[in-house]
Amino acid sequence: MAVRRLAEKQPERFAFTAENAAWAKQQIAKYPEGREASAIIPLLWRAQEQSGGWLPKKAIEHVADFLAMPYIRALEVATFYTMFNLEPVGKFHVQLCGTTPCELCGANELKKVCRQKIGEPHHVTADGKFSWIEVECLGACVNAPMVQINADFYEDLTAESFARILDELAAGRTPKPGPQVDRQFSAPIGGLTTLKEATKV
Ligand code: FES
Repeated sequence: MAVRRLAEKQPERFAFTAENAAWAKQQIAKYPEGREASAIIPLLWRAQEQSGGWLPKKAIEHVADFLAMPYIRALEVATFYTMFNLEPVGKFHVQLCGTTPCELCGANELKKVCRQKIGEPHHVTADGKFSWIEVECLGACVNAPMVQINADFYEDLTAESFARILDELAAGRTPKPGPQVDRQFSAPIGGLTTLKEATKV
């Protein structure tokens, strides 16, 4: 896991839009009195969406103010979870799982594709379309190797299928998320191995 730091270049201010502020108040109201800080994850997420996919320092502080919590505690949360981007990202932000199961199944080949087509991690392509980072396990190990692009998982990848997905996104098409081999979700490759027959009563 790389060290996660705030971006050097930061906007001067951030405030929730009126709509997002009203939404944030609804989220906070779900928690008991004295536990309002529990709403920090959804609020940071909404702030990230409002900021175009990343969390400026001022946005983190705004959320902390909203929840009446010290800035350092909000910073701890924002810097811990890789779902929060601390620097600008591309329109399509690739989170590439590099943890052991994915690495054993070919994640290093996927990294080569990223370097070839996007460049170094933590860098946005000149056209603003792509960026990528390596992250820890995204919980889809059975479909390793895999990446998350924005909100979608692309699984059971090879260098070829991953390159095709990036090309399709670049061309304005929407490739089908999920397994890129002939399997349903995380069901066994090659068809059922158990429960093959209907139960006889
Ligand atoms: S190790 Fe890659 S999803 Fe779990």
